[in-house]
Amino acid sequence: MRLDAAQLARFHEDGFLILPKLFSVAEVELMRAQLPALFAQSCPENFREKGSGAVRTAMALHRRNEVYARLVRHPRLLEPALQILGEDVYIQQVKVNAKEAFSGEIWQWHYDFATHHGEDGVPQPRALNLHVFLDEVNEFNGPLVFIRGSHKRGPVRTSLDTVTTSYPLWTVDNVTVTELVTEGGFVSAKGPPGTALIFGDTLVHGSSINMSPWPRRIFSLIVNPVSNALTREKRPDYQHHRDLTPVVALADDCLFTGVAA
Ligand code: SIN
Ligand code: MN
Repeated sequence: MRLDAAQLARFHEDGFLILPKLFSVAEVELMRAQLPALFAQSCPENFREKGSGAVRTAMALHRRNEVYARLVRHPRLLEPALQILGEDVYIQQVKVNAKEAFSGEIWQWHYDFATHHGEDGVPQPRALNLHVFLDEVNEFNGPLVFIRGSHKRGPVRTSLDTVTTSYPLWTVDNVTVTELVTEGGFVSAKGPPGTALIFGDTLVHGSSINMSPWPRRIFSLIVNPVSNALTREKRPDYQHHRDLTPVVALADDCLFTGVAA
């Protein structure tokens, strides 16, 4: 699947792209059906909310589940990423960010490169974050909020927040967020299950609590050019994988028919 010229231009201008219903209802149901067993596991790859103890982020899913092993090589995700980056990529991180009904907690204002650089020594902000909505995401269940165009000002100043949530994050301060949003405005990424997002490594984003009765689970695959690989192995492998093998796309129907090699 290739992005057209208008989509590419919008990605470079806004710093993100929303692709409504990129995956079918049946495909999303298959992805979703894997989660109860994965979330039930007690393992370091499952990060839990400070407050409720519910799973906040479940990582390394392609190593733990066959459907996710195929999803990370899906052409509808990989081909647009390769088109934007123009070179081989490796799988940097694979997860589902779950925001449970009534209890899902915030993601502070941040951009991903601050962590990729600060923790893993990634040289340049070239990684792409590819999301697939596993539930409907609406204004009530804690959608991701982007600051449009903030990637053009980046990388802005950050500091490490180890207190606010159970997941340590390099975050952007309120003064900087205020400046950035005055320039670019907020966009909340909403849509039906199967909607996909592509956003870059210096785009500022965050999300608020889920006080609705509806879960908000989002699959996230981060790919990074092999030429821009991590230089520090400080975090565990499940937070930044060490296997730099270039990812090769499977067939378009791989979720149902393919067997991951
Ligand atoms: C992210 O920063 O990619 C996660 C934010 C969220 O799941 O709301
Ligand atoms: Mn992020």
